[in-house]
Parts: sequence; structure tokens; C-alpha cells
Amino acid sequence: MDKLVIRGGNPLSGRLHVGGSKNTALPLMAAALLGDGVTTLHNTPVLQDVFTFANVLRVTGARVDFAPDTDANTPDSMIIDATRIDHTEAPYDLVKKMRASFYMLGALLGRCGEARVSLPGGCAWGPRPVDLHLKGMEALGTKITMDQGYVVAKAPAGGLTGAHIHFEPSSVGATINVMLAAVTANGTTVLDNAAAEPDVVVFGNMLQAMGAQIEGLGTKTVTIKGVDKLNAVEFTNCPDRIELGTYMIAAALATPPGETLTITGANADHLGEAFLSAFEDTGVPFDLNGDTVTVTGTDVIHPVSIRTAPYPGFPTDLQAQWTVMMTQAHGTAYVTDTVYTDRFKHIPELNRMGAGCHVDDHTVIIEGLNGQALQGTNVMSTDLRASVSLVLAGLIAEGETHVHRVYHLDRGYENLEGKLSGAGIAIHREEYQE
Ligand code: EPZ
Repeated sequence: MDKLVIRGGNPLSGRLHVGGSKNTALPLMAAALLGDGVTTLHNTPVLQDVFTFANVLRVTGARVDFAPDTDANTPDSMIIDATRIDHTEAPYDLVKKMRASFYMLGALLGRCGEARVSLPGGCAWGPRPVDLHLKGMEALGTKITMDQGYVVAKAPAGGLTGAHIHFEPSSVGATINVMLAAVTANGTTVLDNAAAEPDVVVFGNMLQAMGAQIEGLGTKTVTIKGVDKLNAVEFTNCPDRIELGTYMIAAALATPPGETLTITGANADHLGEAFLSAFEDTGVPFDLNGDTVTVTGTDVIHPVSIRTAPYPGFPTDLQAQWTVMMTQAHGTAYVTDTVYTDRFKHIPELNRMGAGCHVDDHTVIIEGLNGQALQGTNVMSTDLRASVSLVLAGLIAEGETHVHRVYHLDRGYENLEGKLSGAGIAIHREEYQE
């Protein structure tokens, strides 16, 4: 098993490049199953979750190949040949590794009119229900039965029929899954309280490029007019907004006052207004210029309390990273997660490093250290965003921080230690026995 070892105190400066979005690449891969031909996706990140999902697609009979683009500086591409889909199943041993495999329900229903998909498990911070996914499919006319932990779904003989579906709460996954089934249904589907995250919008743009009739992407009401079939396409994935936000916070923590970190390949609009205005309120200077974001180090970080919410609200996937930033603020800050009420497994680990965090219901109260250093030590990753928050803490901690079980981090950050080393950080990977 691997861990990352970070020696704190080095300045973070120079450049960091943002890779392709993980949470967009996965639905794009599912969408490729709807096109009966060869789809090419560009800017797909080289991540464990992408490899896992490629294996899920291969089970159906699709061919998936990775084509490293011409030079090391351009992202990788993926070629998905969905000409022949003859096995409509997503098995437990793959779905258990990655919850987004549940998108196979909508993709196989949309392409083949049937699916047998393992229910995803929970995750480190609690149950992750799929009731909205199943209700949406049933609204389209799908017959759903449960069989030994599998969802068995069957469309009527004449195919699915468009419906009016309301999501409560707003759900990225349920919106994506139901869109995958609705684009080839008979008639019109209206999704109310649909997710407006950039992941959903870019995914919807790919479906439109394949011939789907979709209106209202990025708003709370998405209307889909079913079409007979979708065509394979060539499509480019968007940059990873959570990676961008993570690097902006890293710069606030570890870029020396007056020095600048340049983040390239970014799309800051995808962070949403709430994050950008909160970042501005901390007093850390930053500049947005096309696909480049520059952040300048500063002596004082003002405490800024945040509440996560669906886009354009503050992303829940950045709340752990924000908490680390607030440990260095001059004052007390409150971080409330309204999307997942128990996503705080990183807090005990941060407190072992000397942070002053206290969880009360679904809010963490952070007593800023007024610039005093955290202490490096052994810490344990529990999930993807918790693990990267521990790396951020290690950047500024005194001594060495050993972030264990870094397989969590490898799911969502491509070559993080390589990128950070290139920007001045003393970080390396080591094998260890648990
Ligand atoms: C996606 O998960 C992301 N994952 C998550 O990122 C992200 O945290 C989440 O959206 C919220 O933005 C991927 O895109 C692969 P939801 P998803 O359905 O779709 C409740 C990361 O770190 N809900 O929008 O599973 C749910 O419990 C990951 O990259 C139901 O009640 O999230 C939650 O409270 C972690 N019933 C809320 O909706 C359902 O059927 C939002 O969840 C579905 C969801």
C-alpha cells in the first residue's frame, strides 16, 4: 500500500496544471454507450476511477482503449467502441469500487431497454441512497425489481415514455442517470429541480452533440425530447473544477507573501459564484484570466464561514480543503455541509496535527491558529477529498506528514505528487505495510 510523505515548509510557487474533470469524464463515458459506433473523448484524466469505469463498460461488450495524445503536455484520450453491446450488466465487484458505475442503469436502459446493475454501497461518510435514480426510471415506465443486491430494470416493449420528474433534493447522479434513459424515450421528459453542476451541463452538451434534444441545461428545469438513436461523437472533457479549487487553496496556504502560483488549464466559472466570493473575502489576492488563474501569497487569511450547497453554491467537494485553509485564518470560521451532513472524517486527523476543529452536528468550528504551524505526523485518509485535505495540511505542517491509504487520493487526483514537486514541494510516495 502507498503513502505520501510531505516535508512541510517549502514554498509553493511556479505553475500547476489542471487535468480533465473526473466527475464529468465518468458520465461522458456512460453517454458513449448510447452511440452505436466509436466515440473519442479528449482530456480524460488518468485516474483509478476512470480505469474502473472502463472495465465496467468492457463488461457490456464495448471496447475501451486509452490513447496517450501526441506529447506529454496534452491530456490523454479515450476511444470507446460501443457498436456491439451484448451484456446488459454492471457487476458488484466493479460497482462496489466506484459509485458512479450506477450510471450504467440509465445508459443500458437508454441503449438496450434493460439493465442488471449492482446497487452501489455506502461510502466513508455514510449511506449514499439511489432512491431518486430508481423513482426517475420508474416514472419513465421502467419495471424495477431487486434481486440479491442487484437492480433489475426492464423497459416496456414499446420503449420508455417521457415523464415529468421532480428531484428532491437536487441530485447530480440522479439527474445524469435519468437523462441517460430519457434521451431515447418516446415523448418529452421534464426534470424539475435538476442539478445544474458544470458536470451535468458538459455531459448534456455531449448528448446534444450525439443528437439528443435537450433544453435548459444549467437551470433547475431540463426538458428532453426523446429521439430514436444517438450517434457516436468526438468530444472534449472540461477541466476539473475541484482540482482547481484545491490548488487555489494550496496557494493560499503555501505560496509565500508576494509570490504567485499560476494555475493553467482551468475554467474558474465552473467553481461557481459562492466559492469565488468566499475566496475573495479571505483577502488572498487572485486573478482570473481565461484558462489561467493566478493566486498571490499573503500574510493574513481572513476567516470566512461557508455553507455547501448544490451549484452555484459552495461545492461540498471543497469543504474539507476549505477547512484546512481556515486553520490558518486569523479568527474563527464555521464550515457547514448541507449536502452531506457527516462528511467530516478528516477532522480527527487534522486535530492530530494540532488543528483546533470541533464538529457540532453538520458544522465544523475552526479556531484559526493565527499562523501558528500545524505539526507533521502520521495521518489516515478515509475518502478522496479528506485525503487531499491532509496533503494540504502537510504542506504547511512542521516536520514530515505521512498520509496513509493514499489509494483514496489516486481515485481523483492525477499525479498529485509529481505536480506539487514541480512547484517546489518536498513530497514523495512510499510503499508501506499496514
Ligand atoms: C456527485 O455524487 C459527485 N460524484 C460527488 O463527488 C459530489 O460530492 C456530489 O455529486 C455532490 O456534488 C460524482 O460526480 C462521481 P448527489 P452524487 O446525488 O451524484 C442525496 C467526489 O469527491 N441523494 O448530487 O452521488 C445524497 O444523499 C465525489 O468527487 C438522495 O437522497 O451526489 C446527497 O445528500 C464525492 N437520493 C444529495 O442527494 C438519491 O437517489 C446530493 O447527492 C441520490 C442522492
